[in-house]
Amino acid sequence: MSLEVAIVLAAGEGTRMKSHRSKVLFEIAGKSIIEHVIAAVTPLHPAQLRVVVGAHRQAVEEHLAHIAPTALAIFQAERNGTGHAVQIALTEITGDGVVLILAGDTPLLTSATLSEFLIAHKASSDSVSVLSALLPDPFGYGRILRDETGALARIVEERDADDEIKLVEEVNTGVYLFELAALRAAITQLTTANSQGELYLTDVISVINATGGTASAILSNDYAETLGINDRAQLAECAALMRERINDHHMKAGVTLIDPTTTWIDVDVTIEADVVIHPGSTLTGESYISSGAIIGPRTTLNNVFVGVDASVVESNCSHSEIGDRATVGPYTFLRAGSKIGSDAKAGAYVEIKNSTVGERSKVPHLSYVGDATIGSGTNIGAAAVFVNYDGVVKHQIIIGDDVRIGSDTMLVAPLSVGDGAYTAAGSVITEDVPAGAMGVGRARQRNILGWVLRKRSGTNSAKSAEKAGAVDSGSSSSNGAEI
Ligand code: UD1
Ligand code: CA
Repeated sequence: MSLEVAIVLAAGEGTRMKSHRSKVLFEIAGKSIIEHVIAAVTPLHPAQLRVVVGAHRQAVEEHLAHIAPTALAIFQAERNGTGHAVQIALTEITGDGVVLILAGDTPLLTSATLSEFLIAHKASSDSVSVLSALLPDPFGYGRILRDETGALARIVEERDADDEIKLVEEVNTGVYLFELAALRAAITQLTTANSQGELYLTDVISVINATGGTASAILSNDYAETLGINDRAQLAECAALMRERINDHHMKAGVTLIDPTTTWIDVDVTIEADVVIHPGSTLTGESYISSGAIIGPRTTLNNVFVGVDASVVESNCSHSEIGDRATVGPYTFLRAGSKIGSDAKAGAYVEIKNSTVGERSKVPHLSYVGDATIGSGTNIGAAAVFVNYDGVVKHQIIIGDDVRIGSDTMLVAPLSVGDGAYTAAGSVITEDVPAGAMGVGRARQRNILGWVLRKRSGTNSAKSAEKAGAVDSGSSSSNGAEI
């Protein structure tokens, strides 16, 4: 079914959002509002795609160049209403056929609904079809007025409606299909004789009816699809509806969502069957979750690949890869470029950045790992820190296979630790450790006998020491001077 033109209206100020940003650039489920609209229009393959821009023009045009390179932005310098916006768009449109017009602020519309609407319009001989909806609360929308035959007579805006018209529950969704010739003829006859002093696109209906054309209103099955976003409350409402739609899709495909109301998944996330997602989790970008994985509770994954049967608990990860059967969390922070190998572990209070943890290797507790490559079967002791930054430049650390890094080791980059090597707990390692060696980088311990009895006499410590049999021998340290 061919569609010659689609016009997306997106020049409005979005005043009710109370923002310094463009309304259509606000995001829901990982895509801007206008990107959702264009994604719904694209499968209809309009030969000419036009977007009317005005307020925040530069930001909207830059975004369009990125998400819809075939769209042509048309500038509406002064915002004089939806009718005016279409007048301007028509100056950049050639040929005849059918034009779809819709607003850039209705992100829940689906291409299935638009296709059905197009089929219904083409089956009629009407000059214009308007997609309508029955709203439980029609406040704020233009009302659909039908004649005695059921044909569309006219549309009356809320602000121009009398009390009787305000009771009408069938509203204009702002989605139209026009025969281009009829639209071109009627659009020039609009006036600003209304409460807002604007040119209303909705008034084209009366003009077409008065000049020998015909109009119909086609009722949509799902009013939720046609909700427009004008303020922050509607933004949250549409985001919640989009969340339900996405979550239903995943649950039907075999994903367990323990609490769908607190699980937020972007449109471009892929989740295989038999994944379990616990409450309070957010999956964004192009994250990919493999079968059998357990995610959450309270976990955020942004552009993260998670392997088969892996688990990620109470953690925050971005632009990273987590291998099959690997375990991450609780309270793990994986920053960009982290690769956790299969059967590997990144545990509690561990931060990893731009590093590879080889298969079966473990970073279980309280560590920072940055700009490092760790081989396989290696264990990084509690609170070890990869000291990758000398204050000016970041350096690399390479750790081999089956290495044992002692707890609280400071590994000062650039550095390498060979296969099978150890480091002593509490070491500051500044030089390479060869394969199989034990790296020790700390002062030898000495005990100053009787020190507490002499220097802290009378304290509880001194009393306990005496009870334990400590004596002040008068001798100083075994290997050093008195302090
Ligand atoms: C419009 C309709 C109303 C319908 C509702 C559905 C008119 C007069 N009213 O009202 O019947 O029920 O949508 O959501 O059309 N825009 C421009 N240039 C302008 C003015 C607006 O491009 O000069 C764009 C806006 O950016 C927006 C769209 O047109 O994307 C609709 O404008 P908006 O102000 O939101 O119209 P509504 O009051 O919602
Ligand atoms: Ca609107």
